[in-house]
Amino acid sequence: MKAIVCEKFGAPEVLQLKEVDKPIPKDDEVLVRNYASSINTVDIMSRSGKAPKVIFWAARKMIGPLLRLFMLGVRRPRQKIPGYGFSGEIVSVGKDVVNWKKGDQVYGYSEGACAEYLAVPTKRLAIKPSNMSHLEAGAVVGGASPAILAFRDLAKPEKGQKVLVIGASGGIGTFGIQIAKIYGAVVTGVCGPSNLEMVTEIGADFVIDYTTEDYVKRDEKFDIIFDAVGANTLSNCMNILAEDGVYVSNNFMNSSKHILQSIFGKKLKTGVANEGPENLDQFREWIEEGKLRAVIDTVYPLEQTAEAHRHYETGHSKGRVVISID
Ligand SMILES: NC(=O)c1ccc[n+]([C@@H]2O[C@H](COP(=O)([O-])OP(=O)(O)OC[C@H]3O[C@@H](n4cnc5c(N)ncnc54)[C@H](OP(=O)(O)O)[C@@H]3O)[C@@H](O)[C@H]2O)c1
Repeated sequence: MKAIVCEKFGAPEVLQLKEVDKPIPKDDEVLVRNYASSINTVDIMSRSGKAPKVIFWAARKMIGPLLRLFMLGVRRPRQKIPGYGFSGEIVSVGKDVVNWKKGDQVYGYSEGACAEYLAVPTKRLAIKPSNMSHLEAGAVVGGASPAILAFRDLAKPEKGQKVLVIGASGGIGTFGIQIAKIYGAVVTGVCGPSNLEMVTEIGADFVIDYTTEDYVKRDEKFDIIFDAVGANTLSNCMNILAEDGVYVSNNFMNSSKHILQSIFGKKLKTGVANEGPENLDQFREWIEEGKLRAVIDTVYPLEQTAEAHRHYETGHSKGRVVISID
């Protein structure tokens, strides 16, 4: 089968299209013909071997090697085929699999998703939304889960509460705006000038252009601030956070300040998204009800995965960067 292979850490050029053996599913796994994947921060980490930016030198020195040791690989990438989110069709099932069958259209989160075929444990997949293409469903995986974590699990908005989403136009922020609206919040999105229209179109009640307004100086309070791209910090946003307000940082490693603040203060919340089927089932329900959709920036063919990484790494994607696997 065709797959992207990453044999050494480095710049996007290390991603090479190769012919590799098709995986053989274990007894409790299904074999999926994969049609789509999408790019996330973790893909960049797995390829480069580098932890995301952290503010304090000491934390950078500590987090980087620990990540290499336990997650990314020490000398070369632990995960030879990159990619996590997928959307495709089951082509065969292991002998212990009971609830899934050949032909099921599925989406989910599994290592090695930049490939034509994936052997996926059944606890890592869900039925794909019926009103979405594989490219759209592949864009949901990895993007919507940090947003549901922020609102349903951490901030728990009440109807009418004021929510600010920083990085509203990105892969996660676009889901953040929509999910905050599903919970009945009054939502303001922070984005650059070229994205104001799109962020309004997906449901934001108000938009702020961060290039022309220093929004932390506003004479306005928000009950919840979701920083979807790690562009700000709690201490910087204190002036616009309501007294009982909560600041949710999507990037728990971005700032050592966040770690200290989460130990010493109740105002800051952060966590790691769950990409399991419970969340995917919830997304499918919302998508089929017309409440949630994927915003796609660009679709790259599998052989241009390196280009997709370069695009994502600019930090200016408009929604999700997707890989098409024909
Ligand atoms: N908690 C978890 O489990 C979890 C899981 C996955 C990812 N993450 C975190 O999520 C973050 C990546 O999110 P993403 O994939 O959504 O990023 P992304 O798609 O790269 O975000 C790009 C968007 O950010 C906007 N942006 C850039 N600088 C901004 C600023 N100063 N203020 C407001 N908006 C700004 C850009 O708008 P313009 O082009 O207009 O500037 C662009 O539309 C990383 O920090 C990663 O660690 C967390």
